[in-house]
Amino acid sequence: MWKRVQVGEKVGYGMKDSKEIPDYYRRIYEKWYNWFSYIYDPFVDVLFLFLNGGFGGERRWRELIVEWINPQPGEKILDICSGTGTLTIILGKRLAGTGEVVGIELSPAQLRIALGKEKPDGVSFIEGDAQNIPFSDCYFDKSVICGALHELPREVRRNVLSEAYRIIRPGGKIVIIEQNKPDLKWKALLFDFMERFNPEYPTYKDLLKCGLTNEIKRVGFRIIRTDTTSWEYFQIVLGER
Ligand SMILES: C[S@@+](CC[C@H](N)C(=O)[O-])C[C@H]1O[C@@H](n2cnc3c(N)ncnc32)[C@H](O)[C@@H]1O
Repeated sequence: MWKRVQVGEKVGYGMKDSKEIPDYYRRIYEKWYNWFSYIYDPFVDVLFLFLNGGFGGERRWRELIVEWINPQPGEKILDICSGTGTLTIILGKRLAGTGEVVGIELSPAQLRIALGKEKPDGVSFIEGDAQNIPFSDCYFDKSVICGALHELPREVRRNVLSEAYRIIRPGGKIVIIEQNKPDLKWKALLFDFMERFNPEYPTYKDLLKCGLTNEIKRVGFRIIRTDTTSWEYFQIVLGER
């Protein structure tokens, strides 16, 4: 079950009581995002003020994603697990109405924040589960997944990555940014300590254990480039279908 939503529309009704809302989400995140979504944007802002060593930290890694995905006029781009829509909107501005940018997001609370923002032409949001993306094979030129895979249990994470592979055309690109385990022990311990207070701690550990690039490769993508950013808090990967 999914629904395309527009500014001013009520969300949370398309899927209410649907069995298709995954169990993990109901158990761990439904209530969490109902309140966290209100402070999500300022929280991310403040977190990266420290991690990037100054103002504009969040903007810098979001711009890095845009630089790596390199949107071209007329392209179709899917933002998977789009949250409050910050990146979706940045991508839409870059395409300036010439293409299509779609965000798919499960949490009605997160979507409500996204829908309250000013959207450029060509941007839309879908309320739905990224394990089941409502587009045909190879529909999109490119896709991004930003800071979401670490929240997903292994099976869900793999389903989402397989769906990303399915909807991107051959030769199309994907950029994924996720938490990283730095080589420096004290830094790795510090990041681990920060994550301990989050509900996603077990799935975060599992992603680090499996390895982000391994997970991306196992669904069929070819890895083109990897790097770290924000004091090595994040790893960023560019893949090609
Ligand atoms: C940490 S947030 C990242 C949001 C956004 N990508 C950003 O850059 O700020 C992770 C998001 O993934 C969403 N999510 C989790 N499971 C999902 C699923 N199966 N399908 C779609 N969205 C999902 C959550 O509701 C949450 O908004």
